[in-house]
Amino acid sequence: MTQSKDAAPGDDAQPVSERQNVTIFDTTMRDGEQSPGASMSLDEKLEIATVLQEMGVDVIEAGFAIASKGDFEAVTEVSKIVTDSIVCSLARSGIQDIDRAAEALKHAKRKRIHTFISTSPLHMKHKLQMSPDDVHQAVIDSVTHARNLVDDVEWSPEDGTRTEPDFLCKTVESAIKAGAGTINIPDTVGYTAPVEFSALIEMLMNRVPNIDKAVLSVHCHNDLGLAVANSLAAVKAGARQVECTINGLGERAGNASMEEIVMAIKTRNDLFPYTTNIRTENIMRASRLVSAVTGFTVQPNKAIVGANAFAHEAGIHQDGMLKHAGTYEIMTPESVGLTKSTLVMGKHSGRHAFKTKLQELGYELGENALHDAFARFKDLADKKKDVYDEDLIALVDDAVSRRNERIKLTALALRCGMGVRPEAELTLEIDGETSSTTADGDGPVDAIFRAIGALFPHEANLQLYQVGAVTQGTYAQADVSVRLEENGRTVNGAGADTDTMVASANAYISALNKLLVKREKTAPAALYAQA
Ligand code: KIV
Ligand code: ZN
Repeated sequence: MTQSKDAAPGDDAQPVSERQNVTIFDTTMRDGEQSPGASMSLDEKLEIATVLQEMGVDVIEAGFAIASKGDFEAVTEVSKIVTDSIVCSLARSGIQDIDRAAEALKHAKRKRIHTFISTSPLHMKHKLQMSPDDVHQAVIDSVTHARNLVDDVEWSPEDGTRTEPDFLCKTVESAIKAGAGTINIPDTVGYTAPVEFSALIEMLMNRVPNIDKAVLSVHCHNDLGLAVANSLAAVKAGARQVECTINGLGERAGNASMEEIVMAIKTRNDLFPYTTNIRTENIMRASRLVSAVTGFTVQPNKAIVGANAFAHEAGIHQDGMLKHAGTYEIMTPESVGLTKSTLVMGKHSGRHAFKTKLQELGYELGENALHDAFARFKDLADKKKDVYDEDLIALVDDAVSRRNERIKLTALALRCGMGVRPEAELTLEIDGETSSTTADGDGPVDAIFRAIGALFPHEANLQLYQVGAVTQGTYAQADVSVRLEENGRTVNGAGADTDTMVASANAYISALNKLLVKREKTAPAALYAQA
């Protein structure tokens, strides 16, 4: 069946106690998707899973199978295409949850069920309304049931860092006895600090008699900005699996960011003498994909993947860099997959050069997608004198995020200027049917959004409208983000185009498309109440 409970991915031959490889468990598509607005379509999840596998991620948590039809389908389909990484589904402690996870994982070559229940006094009393004894029994029953279905079972005590130490040790011991091969300690509310968390991991290593039969894992949230520091402290104390997400996506302030953990281990290997299986040159590609799919732009000063992470503006720094890159760079841009910003091609560039350039940037497009992207590139090169790497990335990401959408913009014309009431004439294709309208507004963007609202009536509120530029200069493409909220559901849309108004319309339409997907889904977070 699946990997044996005595062996961790990438380190199969080593006894648990001597293992120096840190298993990277990615939860971008489960915890990451639980962030308000970060919904992902099935195609997008399949694309992310492919990239995660290619970058060497050991375990991919593809969803929470019982949470919704969409999650079940995502776990099922990811299970079919992923062959190297372990595919994992989250499940609460109930039999139905665990059965559903096992069913969704049916096709996976390597599969894991990750089951959890709250163990902190606060959660047990107010959320579960269960006694500690009942919770303890549920741990045994859930892990035993999961182990009857798959070989590889992970168990998490939710709100682990606020759990009574004695109760934590007792439940961890019982979970291992029942067959859990991985014990994951979540800092569910991002409350702990590095010194405290490493003490907690050391306590488990010292007090749980059968701890050597399991891999200790950590899952840190970033509410105090300590998720990465806490994860690394736990690794130093003995944890050998880290749960994390691309770009630090996740509930509230997010989860520990994978790129930061992996690059900290690689760059400060003197301090963290461990290995991971991650091919770090794939980091930028994964970051850009997750950002494009979710519409969550990466802040420019974000460690590792921010636009300024390797930029040197100050004269004194530039001077140092010219003399020796090590003066201000502790890792090379190439090591995270960043290529130098270069002039790529113009309108005379051919399809072959275009394909090669996309491969250099980390995109492997199928024939149809390549055909579409090339047509868009030609269009862009006609409008824009110089086409840079960033333009190509924006173009491909924009195409990826708008693929398979039910609502599409097919035409837009505007009348605006001084002394004129702005008016937008707009055509949409909705589920294959074309319709047009004209609307006015307080500004051209307002007119466009009203026209879209007339053709596709909805109750969503606009929460954010943001315009950025992909590169510099007046030829730059506009990069627009839109956030919409409907009945507590929030989604983000993005659009890029040389015409700011077209980019705005596309960003709004992309958000509406995501709302349509979201309407079909139950928010997994809502199910936590029953865990
Ligand atoms: O944050 C958390 O506690 C979780 C668990 C389900 C692992 O996401
Ligand atoms: Zn979490």
